[in-house]
Amino acid sequence: MLNLIKELSQAYGPSGREEEVRSLIRGELQGKVEDVYTDSLGNLVAVREGKGKRIMVAAHMDEIGLIVTHVDDEGFLRFSSIGGLLPTSVMGRRFLLPGGIRATVGVEKPEDLKDLSFKKMYLDIGAKDKKEALKEVGIGHMAVFESSFAAAGSRFSGKAMDDRIGCAVLLKALEEVQTHNEIYFVFTVQEEVGLRGARTSAYRLNPEIGLAVDVTRSGDTPEAHKMAVGLGKGPAVKVKDTSMIAHPRVKERMMTVAEKEGIPYQLEVLERGGTDAGGIHMTREGIPSGVMSIPCRYIHTAAEMVDAGDVDYARRFLVALLEDSWE
Ligand code: CO
Ligand code: ZN
Repeated sequence: MLNLIKELSQAYGPSGREEEVRSLIRGELQGKVEDVYTDSLGNLVAVREGKGKRIMVAAHMDEIGLIVTHVDDEGFLRFSSIGGLLPTSVMGRRFLLPGGIRATVGVEKPEDLKDLSFKKMYLDIGAKDKKEALKEVGIGHMAVFESSFAAAGSRFSGKAMDDRIGCAVLLKALEEVQTHNEIYFVFTVQEEVGLRGARTSAYRLNPEIGLAVDVTRSGDTPEAHKMAVGLGKGPAVKVKDTSMIAHPRVKERMMTVAEKEGIPYQLEVLERGGTDAGGIHMTREGIPSGVMSIPCRYIHTAAEMVDAGDVDYARRFLVALLEDSWE
Protein backbone atom coordinates (compact mmCIF):
# COMPACT_ATOMS: atom_id res chain seq x y z
CA MET A 1 0.00 0.00 0.00
CA LEU A 2 2.98 2.28 0.66
CA ASN A 3 3.85 2.52 -3.04
CA LEU A 4 0.25 3.27 -3.96
CA ILE A 5 0.07 6.07 -1.38
CA LYS A 6 3.36 7.50 -2.58
CA GLU A 7 2.33 7.43 -6.22
CA LEU A 8 -1.05 9.03 -5.56
CA SER A 9 0.41 11.67 -3.27
CA GLN A 10 3.05 12.69 -5.81
CA ALA A 11 0.60 13.05 -8.71
CA TYR A 12 -0.38 16.53 -9.96
CA GLY A 13 -4.07 17.25 -9.38
CA PRO A 14 -5.31 20.66 -8.25
CA SER A 15 -9.10 21.13 -8.24
CA GLY A 16 -10.49 20.91 -11.76
CA ARG A 17 -7.28 19.35 -13.08
CA GLU A 18 -7.53 15.84 -11.67
CA GLU A 19 -6.65 13.97 -14.92
CA GLU A 20 -3.35 12.53 -13.74
CA VAL A 21 -4.79 11.23 -10.47
CA ARG A 22 -7.84 9.88 -12.26
CA SER A 23 -5.81 7.91 -14.77
CA LEU A 24 -3.65 6.43 -11.99
CA ILE A 25 -6.77 5.30 -10.11
CA ARG A 26 -8.39 4.00 -13.30
CA GLY A 27 -5.30 1.84 -13.84
CA GLU A 28 -5.61 0.46 -10.30
CA LEU A 29 -9.29 -0.40 -10.89
CA GLN A 30 -8.60 -2.51 -13.98
CA GLY A 31 -10.54 -5.77 -13.77
CA LYS A 32 -11.64 -5.25 -10.17
CA VAL A 33 -15.20 -3.92 -10.60
CA GLU A 34 -18.19 -4.49 -12.88
CA ASP A 35 -18.38 -0.92 -14.14
CA VAL A 36 -16.08 2.12 -14.19
CA TYR A 37 -16.88 5.46 -15.76
CA THR A 38 -15.99 9.14 -15.61
CA ASP A 39 -19.00 11.44 -15.32
CA SER A 40 -19.48 14.84 -16.91
CA LEU A 41 -17.68 16.82 -14.17
CA GLY A 42 -14.82 14.33 -14.07
CA ASN A 43 -15.69 12.18 -11.05
CA LEU A 44 -14.48 8.61 -11.42
CA VAL A 45 -17.14 6.09 -10.40
CA ALA A 46 -16.49 2.38 -9.81
CA VAL A 47 -19.57 0.24 -9.23
CA ARG A 48 -19.71 -3.03 -7.30
CA GLU A 49 -23.17 -4.37 -8.09
CA GLY A 50 -25.47 -5.95 -5.50
CA LYS A 51 -29.04 -6.29 -4.25
CA GLY A 52 -28.56 -4.89 -0.75
CA LYS A 53 -28.14 -1.30 0.45
CA ARG A 54 -26.93 1.22 -2.09
CA ILE A 55 -23.94 2.94 -0.50
CA MET A 56 -21.85 5.72 -1.99
CA VAL A 57 -18.35 6.18 -0.60
CA ALA A 58 -16.36 9.20 -1.72
CA ALA A 59 -12.73 10.31 -1.52
CA HIS A 60 -11.54 13.39 -3.38
CA MET A 61 -8.83 13.33 -6.02
CA ASP A 62 -8.11 17.05 -6.05
CA GLU A 63 -5.57 18.91 -3.95
CA ILE A 64 -5.07 22.54 -2.96
CA GLY A 65 -2.83 24.76 -5.05
CA LEU A 66 -2.06 28.19 -6.51
CA ILE A 67 -3.44 29.75 -9.70
CA VAL A 68 -1.62 32.29 -11.89
CA THR A 69 -3.53 35.58 -12.14
CA HIS A 70 -1.00 37.94 -13.77
CA VAL A 71 2.49 37.98 -15.30
CA ASP A 72 4.50 41.20 -14.89
CA ASP A 73 7.14 42.72 -17.20
CA GLU A 74 9.98 41.16 -15.21
CA GLY A 75 8.47 37.70 -15.59
CA PHE A 76 7.15 37.23 -12.05
CA LEU A 77 3.76 35.56 -11.65
CA ARG A 78 1.08 36.78 -9.27
CA PHE A 79 -1.28 34.18 -7.93
CA SER A 80 -4.34 33.40 -5.91
CA SER A 81 -5.22 30.15 -4.14
CA ILE A 82 -7.20 27.05 -5.05
CA GLY A 83 -8.73 25.96 -1.77
CA GLY A 84 -7.65 26.94 1.72
CA LEU A 85 -3.94 27.76 1.67
CA LEU A 86 -2.13 30.00 4.14
CA PRO A 87 0.51 32.46 2.86
CA THR A 88 2.86 31.14 5.56
CA SER A 89 2.56 27.57 4.21
CA VAL A 90 3.63 28.55 0.70
CA MET A 91 6.37 31.10 1.49
CA GLY A 92 9.77 29.99 0.21
CA ARG A 93 8.43 26.71 -1.10
CA ARG A 94 8.81 25.16 -4.52
CA PHE A 95 5.74 24.58 -6.65
CA LEU A 96 5.09 22.51 -9.75
CA LEU A 97 3.23 23.95 -12.75
CA PRO A 98 1.93 22.10 -15.84
CA GLY A 99 4.65 20.97 -18.22
CA GLY A 100 7.05 20.25 -15.38
CA ILE A 101 7.75 23.95 -14.74
CA ARG A 102 9.15 24.63 -11.25
CA ALA A 103 8.59 27.84 -9.34
CA THR A 104 9.78 29.32 -6.06
CA VAL A 105 7.45 31.48 -3.97
CA GLY A 106 9.02 34.82 -3.04
CA VAL A 107 7.91 37.84 -1.08
CA GLU A 108 8.40 41.50 -2.08
CA LYS A 109 10.11 42.82 1.07
CA PRO A 110 11.51 41.00 4.13
CA GLU A 111 9.25 43.17 6.33
CA ASP A 112 6.26 41.60 4.61
CA LEU A 113 7.04 38.30 6.33
CA LYS A 114 5.53 39.75 9.51
CA ASP A 115 2.19 40.36 7.83
CA LEU A 116 2.18 37.95 4.95
CA SER A 117 -0.50 37.98 2.25
CA PHE A 118 -0.71 36.56 -1.27
CA LYS A 119 -0.75 40.02 -2.81
CA LYS A 120 2.79 40.66 -1.55
CA MET A 121 4.03 37.35 -2.97
CA TYR A 122 4.91 35.98 -6.39
CA LEU A 123 6.02 32.84 -8.20
CA ASP A 124 9.46 32.92 -9.80
CA ILE A 125 9.95 30.39 -12.61
CA GLY A 126 13.41 31.69 -13.48
CA ALA A 127 12.21 33.66 -16.53
CA LYS A 128 14.15 36.80 -17.56
CA ASP A 129 11.06 38.76 -18.58
CA LYS A 130 7.37 38.56 -19.37
CA LYS A 131 7.90 37.20 -22.87
CA GLU A 132 10.07 34.37 -21.65
CA ALA A 133 7.65 33.60 -18.80
CA LEU A 134 4.68 33.42 -21.14
CA LYS A 135 6.44 30.75 -23.19
CA GLU A 136 6.25 28.46 -20.15
CA VAL A 137 3.07 29.46 -18.31
CA GLY A 138 -0.24 31.21 -18.85
CA ILE A 139 -3.01 32.87 -16.89
CA GLY A 140 -5.05 30.25 -15.04
CA HIS A 141 -2.27 27.68 -14.86
CA MET A 142 -2.31 25.92 -11.52
CA ALA A 143 0.61 25.02 -9.28
CA VAL A 144 0.83 22.36 -6.57
CA PHE A 145 3.42 21.85 -3.84
CA GLU A 146 6.55 20.07 -4.97
CA SER A 147 7.46 17.91 -2.02
CA SER A 148 8.87 14.43 -1.67
CA PHE A 149 7.03 11.58 0.02
CA ALA A 150 8.58 10.16 3.17
CA ALA A 151 7.83 7.20 5.39
CA ALA A 152 9.22 8.28 8.76
CA GLY A 153 8.91 5.69 11.50
CA SER A 154 5.28 4.61 11.65
CA ARG A 155 4.14 7.72 9.79
CA PHE A 156 3.87 8.99 6.22
CA SER A 157 4.32 12.58 5.18
CA GLY A 158 4.03 14.40 1.90
CA LYS A 159 1.81 16.69 -0.09
CA ALA A 160 -1.85 15.88 -0.81
CA MET A 161 -2.33 13.22 1.86
CA ASP A 162 -5.58 15.22 1.82
CA ASP A 163 -7.12 13.23 0.24
CA ARG A 164 -5.01 10.78 -1.74
CA ILE A 165 -4.81 8.77 1.48
CA GLY A 166 -8.61 8.46 1.24
CA CYS A 167 -8.32 7.40 -2.42
CA ALA A 168 -5.80 4.71 -1.42
CA VAL A 169 -8.08 3.45 1.38
CA LEU A 170 -10.99 3.17 -1.08
CA LEU A 171 -8.86 1.30 -3.60
CA LYS A 172 -7.68 -1.19 -0.98
CA ALA A 173 -11.15 -1.66 0.51
CA LEU A 174 -12.56 -2.31 -2.95
CA GLU A 175 -10.19 -5.24 -3.39
CA GLU A 176 -11.28 -6.85 -0.14
CA VAL A 177 -14.98 -6.14 0.24
CA GLN A 178 -17.43 -9.04 -0.12
CA THR A 179 -21.00 -7.95 0.13
CA HIS A 180 -24.53 -8.05 -1.28
CA ASN A 181 -24.69 -4.29 -0.99
CA GLU A 182 -24.39 -2.16 -4.11
CA ILE A 183 -21.34 0.03 -3.62
CA TYR A 184 -20.40 3.15 -5.55
CA PHE A 185 -16.76 4.04 -5.04
CA VAL A 186 -16.55 7.66 -6.12
CA PHE A 187 -13.25 9.48 -6.63
CA THR A 188 -14.47 13.04 -6.69
CA VAL A 189 -13.31 16.29 -8.26
CA GLN A 190 -13.27 19.81 -6.82
CA GLU A 191 -13.75 19.03 -3.13
CA GLU A 192 -11.30 21.72 -2.04
CA VAL A 193 -13.28 24.48 -3.75
CA GLY A 194 -16.70 23.51 -2.38
CA LEU A 195 -17.52 19.76 -2.44
CA ARG A 196 -18.69 20.14 -6.02
CA GLY A 197 -18.06 16.73 -7.57
CA ALA A 198 -19.57 14.94 -4.56
CA ARG A 199 -22.82 16.82 -4.96
CA THR A 200 -23.32 16.05 -8.64
CA SER A 201 -22.25 12.42 -8.42
CA ALA A 202 -24.58 11.82 -5.46
CA TYR A 203 -27.44 13.25 -7.52
CA ARG A 204 -26.82 10.77 -10.31
CA LEU A 205 -26.24 7.75 -8.05
CA ASN A 206 -29.00 8.59 -5.54
CA PRO A 207 -27.59 6.29 -2.82
CA GLU A 208 -29.39 5.32 0.40
CA ILE A 209 -26.30 6.07 2.48
CA GLY A 210 -23.41 8.43 1.83
CA LEU A 211 -19.93 8.06 3.28
CA ALA A 212 -16.85 10.20 2.82
CA VAL A 213 -13.29 9.19 3.64
CA ASP A 214 -11.06 12.18 4.24
CA VAL A 215 -8.44 13.56 6.59
CA THR A 216 -9.18 15.58 9.71
CA ARG A 217 -7.12 17.78 11.95
CA SER A 218 -5.42 16.57 15.11
CA GLY A 219 -5.00 18.30 18.43
CA ASP A 220 -1.87 16.44 19.53
CA THR A 221 0.99 18.81 18.65
CA PRO A 222 2.66 21.31 21.04
CA GLU A 223 0.25 24.08 22.05
CA ALA A 224 -2.30 22.79 19.55
CA HIS A 225 -5.86 24.07 19.61
CA LYS A 226 -7.77 21.65 21.86
CA MET A 227 -9.27 18.84 19.81
CA ALA A 228 -9.89 15.27 20.93
CA VAL A 229 -8.27 13.64 17.89
CA GLY A 230 -4.71 12.36 17.73
CA LEU A 231 -2.48 10.33 15.42
CA GLY A 232 -2.19 6.61 16.10
CA LYS A 233 -5.48 6.25 17.98
CA GLY A 234 -7.49 4.93 15.05
CA PRO A 235 -9.74 6.53 12.44
CA ALA A 236 -12.31 9.09 13.57
CA VAL A 237 -16.07 8.97 13.28
CA LYS A 238 -17.26 12.45 12.37
CA VAL A 239 -19.86 14.07 14.61
CA LYS A 240 -19.79 17.55 13.08
CA ASP A 241 -17.82 19.92 10.89
CA THR A 242 -18.67 23.14 9.03
CA SER A 243 -20.29 21.29 6.12
CA MET A 244 -22.54 18.87 8.01
CA ILE A 245 -23.81 17.24 11.15
CA ALA A 246 -23.39 13.51 10.65
CA HIS A 247 -26.71 11.68 10.45
CA PRO A 248 -27.23 10.14 13.92
CA ARG A 249 -28.23 6.77 12.50
CA VAL A 250 -25.13 6.62 10.28
CA LYS A 251 -22.80 7.83 13.02
CA GLU A 252 -24.17 5.33 15.55
CA ARG A 253 -24.00 2.48 13.07
CA MET A 254 -20.37 3.38 12.39
CA MET A 255 -19.58 3.24 16.11
CA THR A 256 -21.38 -0.10 16.48
CA VAL A 257 -19.48 -1.60 13.53
CA ALA A 258 -16.12 -0.37 14.87
CA GLU A 259 -16.85 -1.87 18.28
CA LYS A 260 -17.98 -5.18 16.77
CA GLU A 261 -14.81 -5.38 14.65
CA GLY A 262 -12.50 -4.33 17.46
CA ILE A 263 -11.36 -1.24 15.57
CA PRO A 264 -10.20 1.64 17.80
CA TYR A 265 -11.89 4.90 16.84
CA GLN A 266 -12.15 8.51 17.97
CA LEU A 267 -15.06 10.93 17.84
CA GLU A 268 -14.43 14.05 15.83
CA VAL A 269 -15.83 17.56 16.05
CA LEU A 270 -13.98 19.66 13.48
CA GLU A 271 -14.50 23.36 14.10
CA ARG A 272 -13.41 24.49 10.65
CA GLY A 273 -13.50 22.47 7.43
CA GLY A 274 -15.76 20.10 5.54
CA THR A 275 -15.78 16.96 3.44
CA ASP A 276 -17.59 15.46 0.48
CA ALA A 277 -20.29 14.19 2.86
CA GLY A 278 -21.32 17.84 3.22
CA GLY A 279 -22.19 17.83 -0.48
CA ILE A 280 -23.72 14.35 -0.53
CA HIS A 281 -26.11 14.83 2.40
CA MET A 282 -27.63 17.98 0.84
CA THR A 283 -28.38 16.28 -2.48
CA ARG A 284 -31.96 15.66 -3.64
CA GLU A 285 -34.24 15.38 -0.60
CA GLY A 286 -31.27 14.64 1.67
CA ILE A 287 -29.08 11.54 1.93
CA PRO A 288 -28.14 10.20 5.40
CA SER A 289 -24.37 10.52 5.49
CA GLY A 290 -21.34 10.05 7.67
CA VAL A 291 -17.57 10.42 7.50
CA MET A 292 -14.66 8.22 8.41
CA SER A 293 -11.70 10.53 9.00
CA ILE A 294 -8.01 9.83 9.04
CA PRO A 295 -6.22 12.00 11.61
CA CYS A 296 -3.64 14.24 9.94
CA ARG A 297 -1.15 16.86 11.11
CA TYR A 298 -0.15 19.93 9.10
CA ILE A 299 -3.19 19.80 6.81
CA HIS A 300 -2.89 21.95 3.68
CA THR A 301 0.89 22.18 3.90
CA ALA A 302 3.60 20.50 1.81
CA ALA A 303 4.15 17.81 4.45
CA GLU A 304 0.83 16.50 5.71
CA MET A 305 1.42 13.63 8.13
CA VAL A 306 -0.67 10.54 8.84
CA ASP A 307 -0.11 7.40 10.90
CA ALA A 308 0.31 4.05 9.12
CA GLY A 309 -1.68 2.22 11.81
CA ASP A 310 -4.61 4.62 11.43
CA VAL A 311 -4.56 4.07 7.67
CA ASP A 312 -4.64 0.30 8.10
CA TYR A 313 -7.50 0.48 10.59
CA ALA A 314 -9.30 2.86 8.21
CA ARG A 315 -9.11 0.25 5.45
CA ARG A 316 -10.49 -2.47 7.74
CA PHE A 317 -13.16 -0.14 9.07
CA LEU A 318 -14.31 0.83 5.59
CA VAL A 319 -14.53 -2.81 4.48
CA ALA A 320 -16.67 -3.59 7.55
CA LEU A 321 -18.92 -0.59 6.92
CA LEU A 322 -19.49 -1.57 3.29
CA GLU A 323 -20.26 -5.17 4.26
CA ASP A 324 -22.68 -4.18 7.02
CA SER A 325 -26.43 -4.71 6.57
CA TRP A 326 -27.19 -1.18 7.87
CA GLU A 327 -30.41 -2.53 9.38
CO1 CO B 1 -8.44 19.62 2.12
ZN1 ZN C 1 -9.85 16.68 2.03
